[in-house]
Amino acid sequence: MHLFLTGVTGAVGMEMARWIARNTPKARVYALIRAPSSVVLKARWSKLAAKLWPDVSARPPEGQFIPVLGDITQPGLGLSPEDAARLASEVTHVIHSAANVELDAPLPEARQANVDGTRHVFEVVRTFRRLERAGYVSTLFVAGKRPGRFLETDEVHEADFVNPYEQSKYEAEHLVRGLMKELPIAMYRLAYLIGRDDGEVTRYNSMHSLMRLFYQGHVGAFPGTPDSRMDLSSNDYAAAALLTLFLEHYQPGRTFHIGNGDEGLRLQDFIDTMTEVSAETERRWAQGVFLPPDVVDEDTYTLLRRTLLQTQNKQSHEVIRLGDTMYGHLLASQVFDARPVHALLGERVKPPPAKQLLRDVLRHCVATDWGRNRI
Ligand SMILES: NC(=O)c1ccc[n+]([C@@H]2O[C@H](COP(=O)([O-])OP(=O)(O)OC[C@H]3O[C@@H](n4cnc5c(N)ncnc54)[C@H](OP(=O)(O)O)[C@@H]3O)[C@@H](O)[C@H]2O)c1
Repeated sequence: MHLFLTGVTGAVGMEMARWIARNTPKARVYALIRAPSSVVLKARWSKLAAKLWPDVSARPPEGQFIPVLGDITQPGLGLSPEDAARLASEVTHVIHSAANVELDAPLPEARQANVDGTRHVFEVVRTFRRLERAGYVSTLFVAGKRPGRFLETDEVHEADFVNPYEQSKYEAEHLVRGLMKELPIAMYRLAYLIGRDDGEVTRYNSMHSLMRLFYQGHVGAFPGTPDSRMDLSSNDYAAAALLTLFLEHYQPGRTFHIGNGDEGLRLQDFIDTMTEVSAETERRWAQGVFLPPDVVDEDTYTLLRRTLLQTQNKQSHEVIRLGDTMYGHLLASQVFDARPVHALLGERVKPPPAKQLLRDVLRHCVATDWGRNRI
């Protein structure tokens, strides 16, 4: 397998690189990385390799991973003619994972990376003469505010979106579905990833910001019901499931849901687990000075939100800003159906229990002062 991989420096891409090095030692990986020059490209790759494989003896052999300079927002990915020719003649497999995952990026910015970027990637993929299969990485949250059970076969909906990121990914899916008529592409929709199975956080995102504000006692309420689901999972599970499906259960034209499905964390379990772990290290939680947030209905939350916006409390404003990009999913009472993937992968590749994952991730965040002190 000669794999062209985008997004290798990201939360998902890093775990895919580790999985490939461990499980498919004969694969060669061309990893697209953005950099202003080939010197910086090499430096970025060396830094990444040291992070992924701190034990030098466990590093993949020289030449298994080949960093390729490029930017998905550029037509032709900004590849050099030499790289473009090499990829066109050698690549057999593609996984496009690179994206702008900022939940509150303005829509044009999100579209530039996620829609135009995806178009550019597949324009280049079209030139690959030995192409056998391609995978596109999407998100379960393309469901937007659509309520109820969201199936792998669900594509188009009229519901609004909770944030511009998911709208841009929804639009990118539409583009990819059109491309499936001429290229062998399968789609992988992932749950919200919060860290590795052991709790390590490799890239911080909005969920960690919200967890931090919760830990500091600034989250007073969540809208929804105690049973509203939060489909949180681990980077390792996402990578292992995606690559196992890609290599062993490949079906062009099909969409796969990678998440907890019916076992998704309940909002009340999220609150209880956060409260329990916060009390281990923050005395104001242990002494009951900080109280667990309430779960309130939409009208109550709207009122509370308005009141808090009238205060000068910066942290409350930050909680509201984050909530505005996420809480719509709690109100939509969604379940992202994952039964087909669970049936395909069985006991071999299973999502980690969500409560334990949340516990370990929060402990890691606190121990590292939210990423400031690496351990
Ligand atoms: N993490 C999640 O919770 C989650 C959930 C559902 C779906 N997904 C999907 O999974 C995929 C990977 O997400 P992630 O969590 O790994 O994101 P991430 O940690 O933010 O990483 C994004 C990756 O994309 C690369 N990238 C961004 N813009 C680029 C550009 N213009 N040219 C080249 N590379 C670019 C980044 O490179 P730099 O290092 O240069 O920034 C990085 O490698 C995305 O398609 C995302 O939509 C993620």
